[in-house]
Amino acid sequence: MKGAHQSKKSGASESSVDPKAEGASGSSNNESNPISNPRVIALLNQKGGVGKTTSTANVGAAFALAGLRTLVVDLDPQSNLSLHFGHEPAPDQPTVRDLFMNPDIAASELIRQARANLWFIPSDTELALVEGELALQANMQHILAERLAPVMPSFDVVLLDCPPSLGVLTVNALTIADEVVVPTQAQYLALRGLEKLLETVLLVQRALNARLKVAGVLLCMHESQSSHGKAVVEEMDNYFAKFRGSGLPWEDAVVLRPAVRRNIKLAEAPSFGQTIFDYAPTCAGAADYRALAEALRQRWKPVESRADFATSVGIAAS
Ligand SMILES: Nc1ncnc2c1ncn2[C@@H]1O[C@H](COP(=O)(O)OP(=O)(O)OP(=O)(O)O)[C@@H](O)[C@H]1O
Ligand SMILES: [Mg+2]
Repeated sequence: MKGAHQSKKSGASESSVDPKAEGASGSSNNESNPISNPRVIALLNQKGGVGKTTSTANVGAAFALAGLRTLVVDLDPQSNLSLHFGHEPAPDQPTVRDLFMNPDIAASELIRQARANLWFIPSDTELALVEGELALQANMQHILAERLAPVMPSFDVVLLDCPPSLGVLTVNALTIADEVVVPTQAQYLALRGLEKLLETVLLVQRALNARLKVAGVLLCMHESQSSHGKAVVEEMDNYFAKFRGSGLPWEDAVVLRPAVRRNIKLAEAPSFGQTIFDYAPTCAGAADYRALAEALRQRWKPVESRADFATSVGIAAS
């Protein structure tokens, strides 16, 4: 456990930070893990309140504790992600909205340090206006990719906390992502929502981002004793098994294990401006997110270099 994670009052630094200049972890994964450039993971479900933000914050914190230089980006106008890091939004501070609307502000100016190895780009409620404004812009699906390109080499992992919709912000996230993780509950209706989400992933994968894969669903607030829950998990396992070898972006998708159990500490932590590893590092929620981050990492295969990616989306490689 690193020192920055031990204080109950630990909060986000209010100055923007260049991870390279900070020396970051000094333990980049490049030697131990064959992935190239950051692994970009979009946490996405168009249904609200399923655990996207809780998972982004705590998987991100778990990666950071494991020594990966991790950037989390809040793409949701509700701005809940920052709460997990103790960040109080200030009216004059640039946010992810500037990434989309203000080309004069460099991405590096938006990045704030939350903990050792952990940085974030905050959101603000005005991001809601961006959806409408972006819809009028040419090339609007690529803005996030273009604007983040210069800072990408500074990180090992980038996590994108998507809003509960399949709108322009989500499409921007899918355009830059290597993989999609779908936080969900083990409920029958979740399966139907999943099919709609996969349709969107397929459209983006075909038109905008050939690398895009679905890692799988992440069961949040899981109650393993519920017989309905058990039946739905089995149905989800069977659903994904049908697509092996299909060539579709979810051909390797699984129900990720472990499930994250319902744990009140996970709900309490953000009100103290803390991740679960600050607030209750020995609770079940911390154990689940630590194990889940490790399980995600184990699944990573080498991805094409970001230079190839930059070419594929028609932007200059940084
Ligand atoms: N494993 C868990 N145990 C208990 N409470 C949880 C757990 N995971 C998330 N929560 C709580 O459930 C609520 C919804 O979680 P969260 O905000 O992460 O969902 P979301 O999908 O990001 O929501 P939105 O779609 O509104 O952005 C929050 O109050 C959160 O604290
Ligand atoms: Mg959220």
